[in-house]
Amino acid sequence: MELKDKIVIVTGASMGIGEATARAFSAAGAKVLLAARSAEKLHAVARSLPGESLVVPTDMINRDQVYALIAAAHTKFGRVDILINNAGQSAIGPVATVDPEHYRRIIELNLFGPLYAMQAVVPVMKAQPEGGVIINISSNVSKMAIPGIGAYASTKYALNGLSFTARGELAPDNIRVIVFYPGLTATDFGKNGLRSANPVGGRPPGSGMVPDSVTAVADKILEAARTEPAELGMPMPMRP
Ligand SMILES: NC(=O)c1ccc[n+]([C@@H]2O[C@H](COP(=O)([O-])OP(=O)(O)OC[C@H]3O[C@@H](n4cnc5c(N)ncnc54)[C@H](OP(=O)(O)O)[C@@H]3O)[C@@H](O)[C@H]2O)c1
Repeated sequence: MELKDKIVIVTGASMGIGEATARAFSAAGAKVLLAARSAEKLHAVARSLPGESLVVPTDMINRDQVYALIAAAHTKFGRVDILINNAGQSAIGPVATVDPEHYRRIIELNLFGPLYAMQAVVPVMKAQPEGGVIINISSNVSKMAIPGIGAYASTKYALNGLSFTARGELAPDNIRVIVFYPGLTATDFGKNGLRSANPVGGRPPGSGMVPDSVTAVADKILEAARTEPAELGMPMPMRP
């Protein structure tokens, strides 16, 4: 899809990959809606973008707020061309001891968040002759079994399944669902993860690996929006 003047929603846009992605789409001429919980951070990002944007503070586990986000985009711009489901969090701990409440919380965010957003945006995209694009941000760990992050990885395995199925179901409506797989990326994602009382022993997941920069990942997400493959990601395996 050509990105100039397109209406793009980025969730988790207050920092990390989402912030960089909002910046990349704005630089490409898109009008960007920034969603996350931290209103102040979102406004700071918005002020630094080259193009038009709209801040919509949203807790992605709150279904009403997610519907309000899509409605805000529709009210302001009359359409939604691209939805990027990026907001996410990890839970760290072995399967044997990971806190089930942490697991429940990341399922709410990593799975129900994208589900709510897709269910809210599909009627909007269906009504557009040009349809739309939904990019679900998964992870390279959804193709691996890494000790200490099984709970998190499983939310992304599930997101893949939801996305692949939605891709087939929504194709007749010209809605293209793309799964994007970042690898280890230089953000505060690890620091922001929920830690169980019995953390995994040994070195933390990802230690010793060289992370990708957020701009490299954002550029690849931009490529996904432009070329619309079913799947795209950062190279695997992660480089030492
Ligand atoms: N970094 C990596 O190595 C890596 C690798 C593979 C995949 N990923 C995936 O890439 C995505 C972005 O990760 P990141 O590295 O950029 O993480 P990050 O730096 O921790 O940023 C996470 C973003 O999600 C938002 N968020 C968290 N809880 C939210 C909620 N309840 N409602 C709305 N927004 C919420 C945060 O904003 P607020 O706190 O302001 O709400 C923040 O903007 C995630 O889906 C992650 O699973 C990351």
